[in-house]
Amino acid sequence: MAILPILVAPDPRLKTKAKAVEKVDDGIRQLMEDMLETMYQAPGIGLAAPQVGVAKRVVVIDVAKEDEEPQPLRMVNPEIIWASDDEELYEEGCLSLPEQFADVVRSVAVRVRYVDHQNEIREFDADDILGICVQHEIDHLEGTLFVDHISKLKRNMILRKLQKARKDQPVTV
Ligand code: NI
Repeated sequence: MAILPILVAPDPRLKTKAKAVEKVDDGIRQLMEDMLETMYQAPGIGLAAPQVGVAKRVVVIDVAKEDEEPQPLRMVNPEIIWASDDEELYEEGCLSLPEQFADVVRSVAVRVRYVDHQNEIREFDADDILGICVQHEIDHLEGTLFVDHISKLKRNMILRKLQKARKDQPVTV
């Protein structure tokens, strides 16, 4: 397994639509394991392949609490096949927008269909933190970040902060 570098906004690769995976092979399985290790180390509860520079529809999630057994979800080509009309406001962050948070409106519950690491098609219903996380990660596959759901003013403020943080980083040679 390997820890992969996580892209930080504004990076054009985070704004690209990811391509569907035709077959789950060893390469995809390895990518999912590397993404899980990267996510746990960050630490985060979800990671999409575009965040590690891979433009494929692959997502990993684990919303287990610290004192619970890990519950890793490995999803290929995930799609939301139903979303509740009810919406809720939830404060979100993202590993690609470090230390930035904003309230985002999401569906309260969604039904997700995906292909698992053994090429089986699966479905599940998600609400609460898992529901939010799934919607956030599938957004990444469309090149959508949580800041794309908030006002332009607030989005630009966050992106400018991140750009400045990048410029202020010391150069290591
Ligand atoms: Ni994210």
